Amino acid sequence: MSKLPQISRYSKSKKIYIHTFGCQMNEHDSEQMAGLLEFEGFSLTDEMEKADLILINSCAIRKKAEEKAFSEAGRLKELKRLNPDIRIGFCGCVAQREKEKIFKRATYIDLLFGTLNISDLPDMLKRLWHGEKKICQFLDEPVSMKNHSNHCLRLSKIKAWVTIMEGCNNFCSYCVVPYVRGRERSRSPDDIIEEVNLLAKSGYKEVTLLGQNVNSYGKGMNPPSDFPSLLHRLNEIEGLERIRFVTSHPKDLSMDLVFAIRDCKKVCDHIHLPLQSGSNAVLKKMGRCYTVEEYLYKVSVLRDCVPGISLTGDIICGFPGETDRDFEKTLDVIECVRYDGLFSFKYSDRPQTSASKMPDHIPEIVKAERLQRLQTLQNRICSEINSEMVDSELPVLIEGYSKMNPRKLTGRTRTNKVVNLEGTKEIIGRTVMVKITCSKKFNLEGEVIQT
Ligand code: 5AD
Ligand code: SF4
Repeated sequence: MSKLPQISRYSKSKKIYIHTFGCQMNEHDSEQMAGLLEFEGFSLTDEMEKADLILINSCAIRKKAEEKAFSEAGRLKELKRLNPDIRIGFCGCVAQREKEKIFKRATYIDLLFGTLNISDLPDMLKRLWHGEKKICQFLDEPVSMKNHSNHCLRLSKIKAWVTIMEGCNNFCSYCVVPYVRGRERSRSPDDIIEEVNLLAKSGYKEVTLLGQNVNSYGKGMNPPSDFPSLLHRLNEIEGLERIRFVTSHPKDLSMDLVFAIRDCKKVCDHIHLPLQSGSNAVLKKMGRCYTVEEYLYKVSVLRDCVPGISLTGDIICGFPGETDRDFEKTLDVIECVRYDGLFSFKYSDRPQTSASKMPDHIPEIVKAERLQRLQTLQNRICSEINSEMVDSELPVLIEGYSKMNPRKLTGRTRTNKVVNLEGTKEIIGRTVMVKITCSKKFNLEGEVIQT
């Protein structure tokens, strides 16, 4: 690559707006991009109309998410017609999969880059504002973890996401992640500890460790490392109050991890353990490498060892070949586990995945009906579990003002339940004792009894 010109005053004054679609991983990537750009002297704006560059960080996990990113890009076409100086960038998992084909589909896009090219962003922007047209940058196979922690612009001052690993080796047959995020690679424990130490020193109370499958953290690392040992080390960090993590693959949930959740006081009493289907036949076709019986056994061990632990999961309805009977089995497992919360999705056909080539795809209407039934069942369970919590007294970490009702504060229990309450801003960032006064389907209301 030619030597880049020094960043000019002209490009420094440019404002960037980042629009993020999809999961926490994407949100955190956007925080990384924002931090990096700010460090390099660019400014960020949360007013799209005032931006010189609008960056769309896309998600490819389901078709709907992908379409949302493209339809947002489509809206920007008109903005660009009115203001030809505006630049439009497109990145994230959809960009990684489609690469320069996106230029053909959306001719008004100026900048395209992949999930592994975040650290190149400041250089790409300098080139863009020095007149280069149609910049496109993709790295295919990551050699190691990208540099994460140095410059990150976090919105919250209380809780922070921390990436501990990237990519995935599991190739579940429906999932596009291994194709767009590459193979699994873990970040060094010392690096993670350093980032969390810094966060705790600057007043952060909670971290959520991010990875597609945190349970296989450290595999193949030299010197060897594993997730339970990482939790034990993080548990020692002064000032930090809570440690959460997502996502756990049931096949890799070890006894050591269960004991770490039990023994590390800062590790919260909550686990997100995606089931995906309650039918062994479907699980097999999904390539999940566990049976319903093994899953239920792990749930019972978790509940025995960590009484009161809350459990959430993911379910896919209408995987190719899923029969009515398979689906009924999923409902049975949901009844049996009684999840504190479920993310449920209609199966979405993703290019490249092996499920896409399987026979017997389920009609959209059947998938929708199944999803509806599942959600009705889960809503009932959520309401029941939440109403059992009324009158209990629990520590709640106050995170800030509620988005739904800005006159109220909002926080979470260790079990990850949202509690809204009256209070003054002085308690933001503190853990206070709260009496639960009322329950809703997805959250709780309470009053502070002790600060
Ligand atoms: N269709 C529907 N849901 C999917 N997920 C992943 N891939 C697909 C797909 N092709 C869901 C899984 C996963 C969650 C993050 O998204 O349930 O756990
Ligand atoms: Fe996708 Fe399966 Fe990897 Fe999760 S474990 S990211 S569902 S391939």
